[in-house]
Amino acid sequence: MDKNRIIIFDTTLRDGEQSPGASMNLEEKVKIAQVLEEMGVDVIEAGFPIASNGDFEAVKAVASHIRNATICGLARATRGDIERCAEAIRPAARGRIHTFISTSPLHMKYKLQMEPERVLEKVTESVTLARTFTDDVEWSAEDGSRTEPDFLCRCVEAAIKAGAGTVNIPDTVGYALPDEFAALIRLLFDRVPNIDRAIISVHCHNDLGLAVANSLAAVGAGARQVECTVNGLGERAGNAAMEEVVMALRTRHDRMPFTTGIRTEAITRASRLVSAVTGFPVQPNKAIVGKNAFAHESGIHQDGVLKHAQTYEIMTPESVGLNRSNLVMGKHSGRAAFRAKLRELGYQLDEAAVETAFARFKDLADRKKDVFDEDIVALVDDQVVRDNVRIRLVSLEVLCGTRHNPPKADLELEVDGEVKSCNAVGDGPVDAIFNAIKSLVPHETRLQLYQVQAVTQGTDAQAEVTVRLEEGGKTVQGQGADTDTMVASARAYVNALNKLLVKRQKTAPAALMA
Ligand code: KIV
Ligand code: ZN
Repeated sequence: MDKNRIIIFDTTLRDGEQSPGASMNLEEKVKIAQVLEEMGVDVIEAGFPIASNGDFEAVKAVASHIRNATICGLARATRGDIERCAEAIRPAARGRIHTFISTSPLHMKYKLQMEPERVLEKVTESVTLARTFTDDVEWSAEDGSRTEPDFLCRCVEAAIKAGAGTVNIPDTVGYALPDEFAALIRLLFDRVPNIDRAIISVHCHNDLGLAVANSLAAVGAGARQVECTVNGLGERAGNAAMEEVVMALRTRHDRMPFTTGIRTEAITRASRLVSAVTGFPVQPNKAIVGKNAFAHESGIHQDGVLKHAQTYEIMTPESVGLNRSNLVMGKHSGRAAFRAKLRELGYQLDEAAVETAFARFKDLADRKKDVFDEDIVALVDDQVVRDNVRIRLVSLEVLCGTRHNPPKADLELEVDGEVKSCNAVGDGPVDAIFNAIKSLVPHETRLQLYQVQAVTQGTDAQAEVTVRLEEGGKTVQGQGADTDTMVASARAYVNALNKLLVKRQKTAPAALMA
């Protein structure tokens, strides 16, 4: 392999999913994995199989669906973890076991309560066991950046000797500074005798906002795999954002002559899908994927960009999958234009899905003068998570305002093929809608989050509503988009309930309705 090729290891489905509230169901994980594969990610870490049956099934499903990328599962340094992980990745065309153990004094003493020599033995034991299932084993030194260098060198040497082809050095708590982290990677290259037999990887967290800077510094020092997530999702402040790492390498090729296999034009699509599925909005000024990342507001900047784009743009919007095209879709646009637009936005839908999306687009275009790309993306992503539905919104009317006290919702839902209707009141119109849904589909959940975002601008903008429900410690998130915020709210709640049903697939349908 080219010595300057950087392997992109995406852990959105594992470390990303560990963000509180970012849980994804199996279908959503497979969908995201497909998009990651299409964009050219080399390794997809699909989950932590021992963590739950849901995680195990999701890793297995991703391993069955993805053919080009390597599918990786995480495992602690125990037989149970490693065997479960091996089982989950078995269907993969290329499967990797990623096993880890803490190596810092703090973690070994308080978390593991193990002597360093025992930890060192476990490195060898875990990698050796993992190698009995696959040739592709990655070993990580958890809290690597706070590990004593001599001990880290001994662990890395032992892991490589036992057969780890990739050795990952995480900055688990996001504590490192770029020059210090680069020095640590250089030290490994200088001191570990068998280092040339493994790829050195880094996994940086963003607690001090330095995850991307640390990852790039490590690449400069010899690391050839970067672990990252879409939108920088991940534990606490998140992981290094994949789009930032990749675009920094592409844009500053003059100083960092490295390449990746990422088709950067798919970045915006991946970012939007992850945001829609997790309900984590992307901050407007987020590098690369924020909605303002390519927007020029000030007159001076606009003037400059119009005269010559590079005056204020270091990357083109097209390079990350945004298009400058003024092709705004509207109610006169036909199927062919709609299909072309879907292709332009990076969607590959089958005929039936195109037809459903087209009907929903026409419906939207009747209510909204201009339909922007963002509207279509919201609409299609919403459709993706609406597959497998058992509850559908049929109709909704809401009475509210100064003369209607309390607000009232008339609702019709189709539940397992049967149309049911009711009306309910509430403390506000949204409360009335949710009460109506609860009376048609009785359930015991706690509403954890209700959030409204405008997809585009103007008073006719589509509202995108996110609803998070909690039941027995498990959370599901639903999204709904519509020009009417109340309809979007109902759709989001129904979408969350459908996800809850998918989560409880093995439970009799009557259980939810009882
Ligand atoms: O942050 C971390 O150390 C991790 C490891 C399991 C790789 O996520
Ligand atoms: Zn991590």
